[in-house]
Amino acid sequence: MLVSRWLQKEGYDCQTAQSGHDALALMETEKFTLLLSDINMPRMTGMELLRAVREEHPDLAVIMLTAVDDREIALAALECGAYGYVIKPFERMEVVINVANGLRRRQLEILNRDHLQELERLVAERTRDLEQAYGELKNSHEQILQQEKMACIGQLSAGVAHEINNPTGFVASNLGSLARYVDRLAEFIKAQSTALKLLNDERATAELKELRKSLKLDFIIEDARDLINESIEGTDRIKKIVQGLKNFSRKDQEERGPAQINDLLESTLNVVWNEIKYKATVEKEYGELPITRCFGQQLGQVFMNLLVNAAHAIETKGVITIKTWAEDDSLFVRISDNGSGIAKENLEKIFEAFFTTKEVGKGTGLGLSISADIIRKHAGEISVESTVGTGTQFTVKLPVVTE
Ligand SMILES: Nc1ncnc2c1ncn2[C@@H]1O[C@H](COP(=O)(O)OP(=O)(O)OP(=O)(O)O)[C@@H](O)[C@H]1O
Ligand SMILES: [Mg+2]
Repeated sequence: MLVSRWLQKEGYDCQTAQSGHDALALMETEKFTLLLSDINMPRMTGMELLRAVREEHPDLAVIMLTAVDDREIALAALECGAYGYVIKPFERMEVVINVANGLRRRQLEILNRDHLQELERLVAERTRDLEQAYGELKNSHEQILQQEKMACIGQLSAGVAHEINNPTGFVASNLGSLARYVDRLAEFIKAQSTALKLLNDERATAELKELRKSLKLDFIIEDARDLINESIEGTDRIKKIVQGLKNFSRKDQEERGPAQINDLLESTLNVVWNEIKYKATVEKEYGELPITRCFGQQLGQVFMNLLVNAAHAIETKGVITIKTWAEDDSLFVRISDNGSGIAKENLEKIFEAFFTTKEVGKGTGLGLSISADIIRKHAGEISVESTVGTGTQFTVKLPVVTE
């Protein structure tokens, strides 16, 4: 009571409780900053009250009052979280100073805790930022690697294409000569038979007829033409593929160049034909497209990925449709397949880097993310529609660039 009066005189707002339980009950209804508690109390001891308070009101400053100079109890109280203790007989100044110090210490501890929390929040925030930055860095690193890989493959295939070009050239030209030679030989043989008939030498005619039959000469003359034509077709195909590889690997990464997107699609198709031919027939619905300035090699990469994805989605025999058209100032390329389709929950993820449903080694999950980047670079759009079991269609919209 005396203590309470002293403190009130100092301007503190004080309440007194008759027991530890009363004090705890009071603290439930009102918020206090400091508790002065006797160590010796009936029922609940000061130490018990101190422990209860530490649990439930950790912000409360506690100062113990004790009748005896019992250092052990006092130290135990400090250990338990009390800020100090005052020994009877109480000196007014000692009480006031202890209370003032206690309140000050409480304030500092709260401040300190707030700072710590703020610091932890900042550290967590920075860590999150750093993790995000690291993730982005890792992503772009992978993308650069992928692009470098593509560039390497491009260079390699350009070299190979060049090497294949020469022998194909002379094989094609030789086949052309051979076709003409065979025609001449056939013509000569025909003339010879006619001449033989005129000679009326029956024995020789019969012998030659027999030989002609056993050597299957008539069949050979016909078949030789077919074989040569087929071979010429073969070399034409090789030329197309070589041209495709060359277009595909052209080094126009830094600068836009004029391109006919339909041709670009054809070149790309030649390059990936091997992946597609056993899986699907390709239907082409090329519309009339204006020439547009673009990063051709990179767009080739986009179409290649869409075509390969379509082929991968088809299990045995399907159809891939390539449709192009122009509308207003844009041109559109739509690549559709009647393959497996994409599950709804995956539709949002397919453009994310590293999202793949393919087994290890078959897909890195970068194709569409790089494609989306390339289309973005062209200020275009790429969109997808898909139904599981029915198929998928990707539509690329590109603004026509003439300047
Ligand atoms: N036409 C499609 N039909 C069905 N699923 C598709 C089709 N195109 C893409 N997907 C799905 O989107 C995923 C991501 O495609 P993306 O091209 O980005 O990577 P990927 O083909 O798995 O690997 P990568 O192209 O790097 O070799 C694929 O794994 C597949 O699940
Ligand atoms: Mg892919």
